[in-house]
Amino acid sequence: MHHIHVVNKNQKRKLARRNNDLFIINFKNYDEVSGLRAAKLAKIAEKVSKKYRVRIAIAPPQHTLSEIAKYSIPVLAQHLDGANVGSTTGFMVPEIIKKSKVQGSLINHSEHRIPEKQIKSVVSRLKKLKMISVVCVKNVNEATKYAKLNPTYIAIEPPELIGTGKAVSKERPQVITKSVVAVKQAKNSTKLLCGAGIVSGKDVSKAMQLGASGILVASGIVKARNWSAIVEEFAKAVSKNQKG
Ligand code: G3P
Repeated sequence: MHHIHVVNKNQKRKLARRNNDLFIINFKNYDEVSGLRAAKLAKIAEKVSKKYRVRIAIAPPQHTLSEIAKYSIPVLAQHLDGANVGSTTGFMVPEIIKKSKVQGSLINHSEHRIPEKQIKSVVSRLKKLKMISVVCVKNVNEATKYAKLNPTYIAIEPPELIGTGKAVSKERPQVITKSVVAVKQAKNSTKLLCGAGIVSGKDVSKAMQLGASGILVASGIVKARNWSAIVEEFAKAVSKNQKG
């Protein structure tokens, strides 16, 4: 009896590992989630993630990373530099953030672009560190180019839709389907996320039905009046459309 229980548990673990879907909440530097409120949203995300068995990661402001990393939810940096360990004052360094339990990073976000050489360096270092790399791109060409680096995720975000409440999945569905193809053509393990203007569970479902493995969201959650309700709405949509 005990043996059967163990096998089931292992099978479950394997299943959980096979699913790469990810729901990322980027806190940016929104005032609504500043100070003690960052921990509040982190706790909500942690609870909802467990309840719906959906992987949620959060990207809080850089200076709160190590404090927020104590919650049992993956924490990502919003930005990393290509700088080295050592005498690099003020830079965000992959090997150093790992020591503060940060699990990965957004790279080249539309609001914080970095040169191609640095993107390459950061992706390869994160891979070596077994950390999550999310390379943000603004169009399909960039998705094709950076998917070849085999980051954990490419996140496509049309810059003109960011923060507008007009969802990429509704306004530009072809950007998602074309990026899914672009990422597949790299023939590696990279998966596609999408973001910009996503504000409802419907927007999330649509994104996943178009082939995305999850979403990246900021204002749709951070600026919502009821964080628990909106994080649950998004998580339910992810869970319903989980590829498994
Ligand atoms: O990083 C996600 C972000 O750029 C999308 O922003 O406010 O449109 O969800 P938002």
